[in-house]
Amino acid sequence: MDLGLKGKNAAITGSSQGIGHAIAGSLADEGCNVALSARNQDRLDQAVKEMEAKGVKAVGILVDLSSEDGCKKFIDDAVDALGSLDILVNNVGGMIPGTLDSLDEATWATVLNLNLMSFVYTTKAAVPHLRNSSAGRVLNVSGVTGKQLLPGALTTTIPNTAIHGFAKVMAEQLGKDGITVNTICPGFTNTESWGPRAESMAKMRGVTPDQVRDGVSAQTFLGRWAEPQEIGDAAAWIVSEKNSYQTGTVVEVCGGFTKYI
Ligand SMILES: NC(=O)c1ccc[n+]([C@@H]2O[C@H](COP(=O)([O-])OP(=O)(O)OC[C@H]3O[C@@H](n4cnc5c(N)ncnc54)[C@H](OP(=O)(O)O)[C@@H]3O)[C@@H](O)[C@H]2O)c1
Repeated sequence: MDLGLKGKNAAITGSSQGIGHAIAGSLADEGCNVALSARNQDRLDQAVKEMEAKGVKAVGILVDLSSEDGCKKFIDDAVDALGSLDILVNNVGGMIPGTLDSLDEATWATVLNLNLMSFVYTTKAAVPHLRNSSAGRVLNVSGVTGKQLLPGALTTTIPNTAIHGFAKVMAEQLGKDGITVNTICPGFTNTESWGPRAESMAKMRGVTPDQVRDGVSAQTFLGRWAEPQEIGDAAAWIVSEKNSYQTGTVVEVCGGFTKYI
């Protein structure tokens, strides 16, 4: 099926590696031009080269997305480089471990600015451009902690649940402009950042990193982690022109991690 993504322009936050990189790759496979963003120049340059090799226009924007200025700069530079914007993917974020007692004000500000407020600020900057598209799309990347309790995951549960609320409000407000707003909710995904994370979790629990990984696999129906491309390919469908009547939804791509009906 032709998804109708050829020649569209997409901006993806946090996209030099991991899920953001995979979403950019799946969009580029469909002929969609991509604007990538990250803080590390070398990884960003490498990602841009990988996208260009798929035959699309790709631009890397070096930016810290934890402030409104950074988010606005990303969108402004993306539109300057690509000429217009059809698709915004809010993906940037990460897990900072901690408890109610251990997390201080500065750490909470870091967590919330990146994992939640960046979604708000990039959407704010992108909407005027998306209104000019014939099929404007916003896709947020949340996580299963926004749908089901994962004991201890305090710093991801709060932004992920808020992202689901933000997306619903935006879907209602932007519907009249023909812009759809959805959220993809990945389960545990085999990204680069899980290497060190699994090691530190293993140390805390007195087990091996493989045991941490196996424990996650056992909680899914499919008995394994997701590969980033599986999230990327689902995302490409959600933001495609073919997918024209889905908005305000949370799409779980989690191998059966969530158990409610
Ligand atoms: N991996 C999972 O199991 C999983 C599961 C569910 C949901 N998610 C969600 O999916 C999203 C991506 O996760 P991931 O595992 O793919 O992350 P990742 O591997 O850590 O990649 C994060 C990307 O964002 C960039 N980035 C980080 N901080 C940034 C900042 N302040 N400004 C600009 N760019 C920044 C990183 O590049 P630089 O470091 O160079 O800036 C990198 O390109 C997150 O929102 C996460 O919560 C992940």
